[in-house]
Amino acid sequence: MATESRPIRPWWMTGLLVFCAFMTFVYVPWDLFLKPVARDEEVWFGFRFHGHAAKLLALPHWAVYAAGMVGFLRMRRWMWPWAAVYGAQVTLAMVVWPLLYVDGAKAIASAVVSGLLFGGVTWLLWRARPLFRPERPRFRDRYGEWALVTGASSGIGREFARALAREGCSIVLSARREERLRELAGELERESAVRTRVVPLDLERAGAAEELARAVSDLEVGILVNNAGFGSIGPLVNQPAERVRAMVELNCTAPALLARLALPSMLARRRGAIIFVGSVAGMVPMPLHALYGATKAFDNSLGEALHEELRGSGIDVLALEPGSTETEFQMRAGEAPHGGESSERVVAKALAALGERPSLVSRSFDWIAVNVGLRLLSRETLIAGVRRAAERRLPK
Ligand SMILES: NC(=O)c1ccc[n+]([C@@H]2O[C@H](COP(=O)([O-])OP(=O)(O)OC[C@H]3O[C@@H](n4cnc5c(N)ncnc54)[C@H](OP(=O)(O)O)[C@@H]3O)[C@@H](O)[C@H]2O)c1
Repeated sequence: MATESRPIRPWWMTGLLVFCAFMTFVYVPWDLFLKPVARDEEVWFGFRFHGHAAKLLALPHWAVYAAGMVGFLRMRRWMWPWAAVYGAQVTLAMVVWPLLYVDGAKAIASAVVSGLLFGGVTWLLWRARPLFRPERPRFRDRYGEWALVTGASSGIGREFARALAREGCSIVLSARREERLRELAGELERESAVRTRVVPLDLERAGAAEELARAVSDLEVGILVNNAGFGSIGPLVNQPAERVRAMVELNCTAPALLARLALPSMLARRRGAIIFVGSVAGMVPMPLHALYGATKAFDNSLGEALHEELRGSGIDVLALEPGSTETEFQMRAGEAPHGGESSERVVAKALAALGERPSLVSRSFDWIAVNVGLRLLSRETLIAGVRRAAERRLPK
C-alpha cells in the first residue's frame, strides 16, 4: 500500500529542526509561563510588542516552531512554501528591528548582516521544495510494476534501482558487468521482495537499445531511467575516434531510442515516467570535457522538451542534472578524484522532483553558480571560467 520515500534532510535543515525543538520545548514555554508579564517582549515583522500583547503573540510563535519541528522531522510536504514564508517574515523583522530600535551605524550594519543571513536561509527553504516528503502513492502504484534502469551496475544507476525497489517496483537491471547486476538483483529480491530481470548489454553497440526494448517487451515498464553514460576528460583531439562514437551512442542515441521505444505503451496506459540523467556539465559548454558536455546538453534538453511535449499525457519526464557525484565516473573519465555528492542524495532528490518539474540541478551551489554566471558574465568569460574548473580535474 501507499508508503513514502525516505526523506533526505540537509545539515542546515537539521540545524533548523534542532532550533525549532529548542524553541518548542524550552524557550517559548519559559517565555510564556515563567517570564514576568512586565518584562515580556515579542517581535513580529520587526515591531516590538510588550506585556500582555507579547504573551498573546508568543502563542503563534509557539505554534510555528512546533509545526516547524514536526515538518522538518518528517519532511512534510506542507512545509513548502510555509517555512520559506515564515523565513521571509523573520528576515524582514531582522532588517526592520535594528533600523527602528538601534542607533547609528550599528543599525545599518546589523540590518545588512542579518538580512543577508536570514535571507539566505529563506532562499534555501524556498529552493528546498523537492526535499519535502511527498504524500503520494508508491511509484509502483503511480507508474506501473516495472522500472528499467540502464547503467545499474554502479553509482547513480545502482541507487536508482535500490530506491525504486523500495518503492515496490520490480527492476530490470542493465549494464555490461553481468556479475554486478546479478549481485544487485539478489540484494533487491532479498531486501525489497521485488522481482528483477538482468539484461547485460553494451549500449554503445548499434541496435543495442532495440535489443533491450525487445528483452522487456513482455513487461509493463512504467519507469525508464536513462542513466548509463560516461565522460572522458581532455582535449577532443586526444580522444580516439571510436571513443567519440561510443560516447555519442551511449549518452545520446541510446536514451533517445529507449524513450522512443518505451513511449507507445506508456501512452496507451496513460501513465509512466522517464528520467534522463543529464549533467550540470550540459548547462554551459565545458572545454576539456567538450564532447561529454555536449552529450549531456542533449540529455538535459531532450528531457526538458519531452516534459512539456508529454504534458497531460500521464507521463512524467525529468532531466536530472547532477554535479560532481561520488561514483566510478571520475575514475573512468580519467579525472583527478574530486569527491562530490552521494548517489543516494542525488537519487532521493530526483525521485522527489519527478512529476513536479522539468529538470533538477541536484546541488544548489551548482544552480547558483551557473545561473549567476549565465546572467552576469559574457559567454566568453563564463566558458573560460568553466575551462579553469575543468583544468583542475585533469590528472596530475
Ligand atoms: N558522477 C558524476 O559526477 C556525474 C555528474 C553528472 C552526471 N553524471 C551522469 O550520471 C550517469 C551515471 O554515471 P555514474 O556517475 O553513476 O558513473 P558510473 O559509476 O561510472 O556508472 C556508469 C554506469 O553506466 C554503465 N555503462 C557504461 N558504459 C556502458 C555501456 N557501453 N553500455 C551499458 N552500460 C554502460 C556502467 O556499467 P558497466 O560498466 O557495467 O557497463 C555503469 O553502471 C551518467 O550518465 C553520467 O554522465 C555523473
